[in-house]
Amino acid sequence: MCCHLWLTVYDREFVFSDLCVLASGRLAGKMGTMPILELDNVTKRFGGLVAVNGVNLSLEKGALAGLIGPNGAGKTTVFNLLTGVYAPTTGSIRFNGREIGGMKPHQIAGLGVCRTFQNIRLFSDLTVLENVATAASLRDAPGLWNTVLRTGRFERAEADVLAESRRLLDLFELPPDEFAKSLPYGDQRRLEIARALATRPQVLLLDEPAAGMNPQESLDLMRMIHRLRDEFGLTILLIEHDMSVVMGVCEAITVLVYGQPIAHGTPAEIRSDPRVIEAYLGSEMTEANADEAVAEAVV
Ligand SMILES: Nc1ncnc2c1ncn2[C@@H]1O[C@H](COP(=O)(O)OP(=O)(O)OP(=O)(O)O)[C@@H](O)[C@H]1O
Ligand SMILES: [Mg+2]
Repeated sequence: MCCHLWLTVYDREFVFSDLCVLASGRLAGKMGTMPILELDNVTKRFGGLVAVNGVNLSLEKGALAGLIGPNGAGKTTVFNLLTGVYAPTTGSIRFNGREIGGMKPHQIAGLGVCRTFQNIRLFSDLTVLENVATAASLRDAPGLWNTVLRTGRFERAEADVLAESRRLLDLFELPPDEFAKSLPYGDQRRLEIARALATRPQVLLLDEPAAGMNPQESLDLMRMIHRLRDEFGLTILLIEHDMSVVMGVCEAITVLVYGQPIAHGTPAEIRSDPRVIEAYLGSEMTEANADEAVAEAVV
């Protein structure tokens, strides 16, 4: 396999646009006590439709937060704003104190904000290993000439990428040589997360990672999300409709309805908030089954 050659010579532009926010991982930004990620009164309009309306959100480094709301509430649009797919109409988005609203997706990815997609976007005709190695090789690429001439630098970079990709796949217990398209759905979702991690992000945005998973896969995912935060030091923002996952892993939750934030708080506060129950949770999540979900999440 020859990921660097494949990327550099043939498809680099394609890979950049399709991966969107999976790109080279130079860590940037000032560290300190400031939030790692901040949305300040962010609004996004599509013509007459206000998809996101005055959203404020502040994540400390290492936060594990959730963004929930009914279909069409604007959740994915928030991710698209955070990753440069769209520029905010008004408002400010800061990463490590630096304004990133309106930056290009590859620039934001290069700073360390990475995502998975609501609709899985793997390279289905590549193997599992190639999917992850492709993302990993976007960091510290050895350059065109090293690649074309297959210099020692190219060979070393290639070996490092493959070794690191295999380590990630071991962690996720994914079979390196299977084609992505032949994996079960739940494994494809986990491969998306592994691929996002290969870019070494600081902030990981997960858009409905449990969609299509069975209860056991969802539980495994919850444990994995905790590990990613604890062992990789990641800051994680999660969109999810599966309330047992959201209530089980998130320490803080923001609720959007028609683009508008209607509540923010701990899982306990959210599930007992009358505005949230009326606007969103309804009979889906009573306090009793939320508690059960949290208890089941062995974390
Ligand atoms: N590019 C776009 N152009 C026009 N309208 C858009 C665009 N992207 C999103 N929207 C609209 O913005 C609103 C919010 O969409 P979004 O995908 O963010 O919702 P969501 O909360 O992620 O919903 P779901 O839970 O179904 O994934 C919807 O009404 C959607 O149709
Ligand atoms: Mg969505």
